[in-house]
Amino acid sequence: MTHTSEPASGENGKGNHRKNTAEKREHGKDIAARGKGLHRRKFLGGMAGAGIAAVVGAGTTFSLLSGATKNKASAVDTALTIPDLLEGTTSDSTTTFTLEAQTGTAEVLSGVTSDTMGYNQSFLGPTMKWTNGDTVLLNITNSLGEDTTVHFHGAHVPAKMDGGPQVAFSDGTTWSPTFTVKDPATTLWYHPHALGTTAKQAVHGLAGMIIVEDSTDASAALPSDYGVDDIPLIFQCLATDSAGDIKYDLTGYLSSGLSYPLLLNGTNVDSTTLAFTATKTRTRFRALNASPSDIITIQRSDGGTLTQISTDQGYLTEATDVTTIRLVAGARAEFVMDLSADATLQAVVTTGWVRGGSGTYDVLAITASGTDTPDDLPSSLNTIDRYDTSDFTARTITLGQSGTKMLINGSAGTSMSSMAMISTTVGSKEVWTITNSTQLEHSFHLHDVPYQLISINGETPTGVELGWYDTYEVVGGGSIEIAMEFTDFSDDTYMYMLHCHLLQHEDEGMMAALMVTES
Ligand code: C2O
Ligand code: CU
Repeated sequence: MTHTSEPASGENGKGNHRKNTAEKREHGKDIAARGKGLHRRKFLGGMAGAGIAAVVGAGTTFSLLSGATKNKASAVDTALTIPDLLEGTTSDSTTTFTLEAQTGTAEVLSGVTSDTMGYNQSFLGPTMKWTNGDTVLLNITNSLGEDTTVHFHGAHVPAKMDGGPQVAFSDGTTWSPTFTVKDPATTLWYHPHALGTTAKQAVHGLAGMIIVEDSTDASAALPSDYGVDDIPLIFQCLATDSAGDIKYDLTGYLSSGLSYPLLLNGTNVDSTTLAFTATKTRTRFRALNASPSDIITIQRSDGGTLTQISTDQGYLTEATDVTTIRLVAGARAEFVMDLSADATLQAVVTTGWVRGGSGTYDVLAITASGTDTPDDLPSSLNTIDRYDTSDFTARTITLGQSGTKMLINGSAGTSMSSMAMISTTVGSKEVWTITNSTQLEHSFHLHDVPYQLISINGETPTGVELGWYDTYEVVGGGSIEIAMEFTDFSDDTYMYMLHCHLLQHEDEGMMAALMVTES
């Protein structure tokens, strides 16, 4: 099949942007209505409409959800790319990984060459496997020609090893963090985190997956053969102009003629459905939304269920059948499918920022060729003791906006000195109310420790919402309550970050610091 630089049909974002504003407003209502249907508690009464109006009123546009699947008619002609597994070398019980952040080119828009960045390759990075209890050492060389950091998103590591803005390292230098892997079996990822350049570097391709393994019974019972029955799915909905220049800031997003290519493991799926042959009946998928801002919802094309086993921070208490898995920017989830027949996975892209992609894509056609009969899934995957927050320290974190500046507790965290700072101590148990005083969508990410959702827009969590998270949606005008415990790792110099994972918002200041000191 020949790839073309033009989108496959007028249904996609590019065509939609030419429609007039009145029509956009109409469709805006439609988006809100669909949002309500899909996510009963994600929109608050009249707030959704107000949010859309605010976005349109600000002179910006956004893509529309289209009813039809964009790439439905296309042939399945390209195999799903599985990112390489990065081999570490182990000696003296330390496993060493070598990464180089570098520049390159890739086809982000089919048929068009874009300038990109990647780890050890031109776009994206290899998958690392870490084992709970082991010590890892990473030697990461910066060959980007500008400062960078590498943050281990979701990992529970000392602040100095966390890859936040304070440990930026310059071109030509190597940063060598080392730590013990304390995380349970989960799917993490790594990406840059230097002040003001996170969006730019991440959208150009600096992102990779980390698989943490452990020795629990649940892990032993679940598929874990990487690339065979344990499959990474890295989604990116980007924004590019027709020359393939990938956009990452407000100025870029407001330029005209943008396309919003959807990539799965680095391959454009705008007019292609990727192919995967499942040689085992039970296949585990690890989905990561590495988009700068758009929301990705994963579902089956036949409306069937996916068996979700993990949220951001490890196993659910039990495998849970769901029809959709909604991932805000930065979030992950794992699910398994017992494939007695072929199945197709779809990704629904919903714009998460002022402007972005939209639509439903058939992303992965799975051929079921396994002849084995898997055992029943374990009845219990994990024990999660729900926090009783009655004697927890309470805080309010307000996500705000002033013009183009994005704020946390009133401060635009565009420099270390201007950032709001949360100070706490080891052993502290806290409950935070994250209040979104803007009409924009935000994705709340906390470094260091996982959190439980205590309430979502005033409602009590149920089902998969009872898992452990590090990145969660806060809708315009909405709020979430989260609870966490600062179990260890004090430092009076290096700080963790808490921020919106819509990368443009983060770069525009929606980031605060968290200093955890000794009790
Ligand atoms: Cu994935 Cu602070 O970031
Ligand atoms: Cu945001």
